[in-house]
Amino acid sequence: MSSPPWWQRGAIYQVYPRSFADGDGDGVGDLRGLRAHLDHLADLRVTAVWLSPVFTSPMLDAGYDVADFCDVDPVFGTLEDLDGLITDCHARGIRVVLDWVPNHSSDQHPWFLASRSSRDDLRRDWYVWRDSAPDGGPPNDWRSEFAAAGPAWSHDEHTGQWYLHSYTPQQPDLNWDNPAVEAAMHDVVRFWLDRGVDGLRIDALQRLGKDPLLRSNAGSDRRHDQDWEPVAHERLRGIRRVVDEYPDRMIVGEVYLLDQRRVVDYLSGDDQLHMAHNFVFLHLPWDAAAFRHVIAEFEALAEPDAWPAWFLGNHDHSRIATRYDDGGSGQARARAVALMLTALRGTPFLYQGDELGLPDAEIPPDRVVDVDGRDPGRAPLPWRPPSLAGPGAGFTTGEPWLPLAREAEQLCVESQAADPCSTLSLVRRLGGLRAESAALRAGDQHLLDAGPDVLAWLRTGPGERLLAAVNFATDPRPLLVPGIPGARCAVLVSTDPGRTGSPVQGGTGSPAELVLHPGEAVVLALVPDAPTT
Ligand code: NOJ
Repeated sequence: MSSPPWWQRGAIYQVYPRSFADGDGDGVGDLRGLRAHLDHLADLRVTAVWLSPVFTSPMLDAGYDVADFCDVDPVFGTLEDLDGLITDCHARGIRVVLDWVPNHSSDQHPWFLASRSSRDDLRRDWYVWRDSAPDGGPPNDWRSEFAAAGPAWSHDEHTGQWYLHSYTPQQPDLNWDNPAVEAAMHDVVRFWLDRGVDGLRIDALQRLGKDPLLRSNAGSDRRHDQDWEPVAHERLRGIRRVVDEYPDRMIVGEVYLLDQRRVVDYLSGDDQLHMAHNFVFLHLPWDAAAFRHVIAEFEALAEPDAWPAWFLGNHDHSRIATRYDDGGSGQARARAVALMLTALRGTPFLYQGDELGLPDAEIPPDRVVDVDGRDPGRAPLPWRPPSLAGPGAGFTTGEPWLPLAREAEQLCVESQAADPCSTLSLVRRLGGLRAESAALRAGDQHLLDAGPDVLAWLRTGPGERLLAAVNFATDPRPLLVPGIPGARCAVLVSTDPGRTGSPVQGGTGSPAELVLHPGEAVVLALVPDAPTT
């Protein structure tokens, strides 16, 4: 089996820089704080770190409103700090993926300030400007992604036209129909790849393709404000050509489309994305059949060498331990998710705090920051018990920009590192297992029929046969795997601290049978039976 590229080997860990670690005591995480905690990433055995935006920004959408695509915001540090981070990560064998936001800029970006200054400005056409509709309202019926922002158009009194913003009014959409814009954004990609960045996460990729005629969505069976063919794919191919000017780089797209047929289109050929974040998967209910269906559908739709990116959490969603909590099962399910992502064929993406099974924080109304209700999943990471480190829990010595989760005392990194049965210890073990298993990194995958409420699959590589299974039920379930030759298996990892690593005995020719504990997930090594002579 040839060695897979770096971005297929281990997990990619998303750092949300505002909330990872604060190095200067102002209550907001920064690059200095991150550089001081790289041991944590190394202990998880992650292949790469993906940083949410650290670029110059007025922070009206937490940095996704970029005012200078090629500089670092002072709240996070300096360009030199980012260079230092890249060097430090590379010294540890960790790759660096930056978040690139091509669809829009901040309204404070010099391009937009020029564009809105006059209808005759040379940059006017760098953004999407239109006259009012005949009724005096916005040019069409497109809505902002954020319900609170309402229409996707804002009127500019000064020049008497409307500009398009798929997100907040402070995030005007760049006009990718203008080749000068496309060229300028390609130069941004080169700027970062020249600095040694290994990959980019492309924000809101589906938005790069819009109906050039700006027709309304109403009365149409398809959206005109995103995923417009073939424009979106042509633009992506242009981006990929730039990325391919550099060896061994990777692009992963945020393709926020809730239909896997649309998502895999962005992966087809070897001239588009290397990976796509799959939001169909992220939105699944806690149900074995639903997971099985989506995994099988992806495999059936995607080209055979398309590589999945499995993820169930990021900074835009309620955390796994809260979303999947059903009467106290959140922590167990966060553990099962960690195992599932590690053992599925594809690259696991972990959002910071998932390795702790961290739930959402409670945000009192007077502490709300985000326009779209996403603060609870963005609370700072607890590093040390508040009883020892004070209310900043080792995240900050100052006042944290958002309140931390109530569970910081038990769930912080320091408490969990000391406990071999903790979620953190499990996720570290899973990182090690994947690093040591060619079958998990690059082997074939085969979904099994394993009885009700159980998702089970086989991973095979030279000399290795692993069986992974997740019991989605809240009571025990036998793992019934007919047709698996070899009756003996050893438990390599279980998410249930009560399970020992002892071999499980079955009978030759009959199903290997193991009773999974409620909510338990396991990786088993299948041991072939000794040949009978
Ligand atoms: C997706 C990002 O993940 C989200 O945080 C942001 O608000 C929007 N894109 C707009 O950039």
